[in-house]
Amino acid sequence: MSRTYAIGVVGATGAVGREFLTVATERNFPVGCLRLWASPRSKGRQIDVDGQPHTVDVLRGDGSDFQGLDFVLISASGAISRAVAPQVAAAGVIAIDDSSAFRYDDDVPLVVPEVNADDLRAHKGIVAIPNCSTTPIVQVLAPLHQQNPVQRVIADTYQSVSGAGGRAMDELSQQTAAQARGETPDVDPDVFPHPIASNLIPSIDDPRDDGYSKEEWKVSAETRKIMHLPDLPVSATCVRVPVFRAHAAAVHAEFGRPFDPADARAILSDVPGVQVVDDLAAHQYPMPSLAAGNDLTWVGRIRRDMSHPNGLVFWIVSDNLRKGAATNSIQIAESMIAQNLVP
Ligand SMILES: NC(=O)c1ccc[n+]([C@@H]2O[C@H](COP(=O)([O-])OP(=O)(O)OC[C@H]3O[C@@H](n4cnc5c(N)ncnc54)[C@H](OP(=O)(O)O)[C@@H]3O)[C@@H](O)[C@H]2O)c1
Repeated sequence: MSRTYAIGVVGATGAVGREFLTVATERNFPVGCLRLWASPRSKGRQIDVDGQPHTVDVLRGDGSDFQGLDFVLISASGAISRAVAPQVAAAGVIAIDDSSAFRYDDDVPLVVPEVNADDLRAHKGIVAIPNCSTTPIVQVLAPLHQQNPVQRVIADTYQSVSGAGGRAMDELSQQTAAQARGETPDVDPDVFPHPIASNLIPSIDDPRDDGYSKEEWKVSAETRKIMHLPDLPVSATCVRVPVFRAHAAAVHAEFGRPFDPADARAILSDVPGVQVVDDLAAHQYPMPSLAAGNDLTWVGRIRRDMSHPNGLVFWIVSDNLRKGAATNSIQIAESMIAQNLVP
């Protein structure tokens, strides 16, 4: 009989945690035992996974919950990851962390399996997944870079509200309904500082002293780390948009040589997990409505950058809850199993 794996999910009731449970079932991930944790307000809640009810618990806090597991997905908050991930690793269990708490640590692999699965071999118990905007960008950039070295990247992102969690999705629903009734929407400042319905908010995560937001810094630092290009100049502008699911990015990349868009399309057409849809005249291009609910990273609007001889411009869309978070986490577990990295 083939082996099954004992899995724990911290943040099982959240937007990413719930998606993780769905994707694990869809992919027939060999789950043996399954433990679910969330905040005290969810204690005792039942969640059906693959037709079986599972009860949500709260962590004891001393790390004893993790004994005997193989993987723990941590998908709650950076503060919870900082407390929990070292406990998971100390129990000899692999922590797959969705937060930014460990992404920049030298001894924590930051992995998109299609790009840098080999980095998993250096893990010391904690593996981080990237920010949900960075993942699709590196999926597209890395295969192009293999053919023609990338020199500089400007990425402007259009990020859906689900990237900010379940409460942000509720906020967009409520504000949209209020606007339809002709009312001024209520704003919960703990979610977004301004109305998100019928609006764009050019600020995601904390502001930094250099004028960038932390989200923009993450796209830059994570792209460099995953692609093993520590000096690659990457500049981002990250914008929250009133879309429920799937993040988009307009990417302007400069390469060592001119890049024929037809060559880029041909390269990307062969990349697992990437889907090219690129016919402007026929109105065929990636959109959140195409990407929401599936695991593909969609790329189109591929064209020469008219402002730079070696520039290429493209437009990427991918479901942030799936490839941007849950699916990438499961693919990391699958890759670690395939590479015999699970004790
Ligand atoms: N959303 C995305 O697209 C995305 C993509 C990549 C990475 N991430 C990262 O994934 C993490 C979760 O994001 P999300 O969007 O899923 O957020 P979310 O919808 O707000 O869910 C947060 C989860 O954390 C749980 N939680 C809160 N306090 C807890 C505690 N003390 N102990 C255990 N669990 C606790 C919540 O439980 P209750 O339901 O009981 O409150 C809920 O299950 C964040 O670190 C985020 O940065 C998110």
